[in-house]
Amino acid sequence: MKGIILAGGLGTRLRPLTSAISKQLLPVYDKPMIYYPLSMLMLAGIREIQVISTSEHLPAFRRLLGDGSQWGLSFSYAEQDRPRGLADAFRVGRTFVGRDPVCLILGDNIFFGHGLPEVLRQGASLEEGAVIFAYRVRDPSRYAVVDLDETTGKPVALEEKPEHPRSNYAVPGIYFYDSEVVSIADRLEPSERGELEITDLNRVYLELGKLQVLLLGRGVAWLDAGTHEALMQAGSFVQAVQERQGMMISCPEEIAYRMGFIDFERLGRLAEAMADSGYRGHLLKVLAEESGRLPVIGATAGE
Ligand code: DAU
Repeated sequence: MKGIILAGGLGTRLRPLTSAISKQLLPVYDKPMIYYPLSMLMLAGIREIQVISTSEHLPAFRRLLGDGSQWGLSFSYAEQDRPRGLADAFRVGRTFVGRDPVCLILGDNIFFGHGLPEVLRQGASLEEGAVIFAYRVRDPSRYAVVDLDETTGKPVALEEKPEHPRSNYAVPGIYFYDSEVVSIADRLEPSERGELEITDLNRVYLELGKLQVLLLGRGVAWLDAGTHEALMQAGSFVQAVQERQGMMISCPEEIAYRMGFIDFERLGRLAEAMADSGYRGHLLKVLAEESGRLPVIGATAGE
């Protein structure tokens, strides 16, 4: 499976923070925002990733992320000249997706919590159709809302930002699709606000009976960082959890190592290159903990 991180848009709600910098590069405590969705793709086992953004901001993403080989990944970049909608990612990314299944994640969506890696792997193992998620929120009308059948738990309706939501289940910005998604996106018409809506695309799968909705329970935090308040809250949340646990949320270097994308030596070199930032301190801690667990190099068989 391939992955797309959609990191374009104008970031108007965050002006002037976003007047010179892409929203998805703003700090969420100690990392650029895009590290969080990137980490979700990595935890799903996805290594071939395309970053979509505007021509203005793509150079900065390239500077930050490079070709991905440092983390055992492969990154490509594509331009979306203006925000034509989330489903436009499959038109922009058509060549990249090819005939493969693909996961789309929004560059400003942050996830953390118990059982997430299993849920992500479940999405990534899809063979046919689409997998989206449902997450209970207080204010569903800010999101796409999914209505689930009470007895079967199956989706019965999907609406984008409804005035009168039929349920409290919002659809977060991570979606798994089979390879049909490109041709379905091709057939979509823009909505009244002139965008190719991801909810219209998901509704096609719903009508085909090929949409699976997985519940993200209360043990999972889903945050978006689209307003000043939400950005501040996301940063505070990450800081509080990291300080309490002494562990990082969404550290690509650590995830790459734990997923087996890079080895211990490579992790060491990444830590060395991090100069003397607090982030390096965390990588050194992971290295110290892991070195105790690794077999001693050079030990003879039978020892
Ligand atoms: O966060 C989840 C929600 O994301 C879903 O529940 C909604 O169904 C979905 O429409 C979307 O709602 P938003 O109001 O958050 O969409 P927004 O237009 O703000 O776009 C989300 C991110 O995607 C934003 O960071 C900018 C980026 N984007 C957006 C568009 C429309 C692009 O890169 N290109 C685009 O064309």
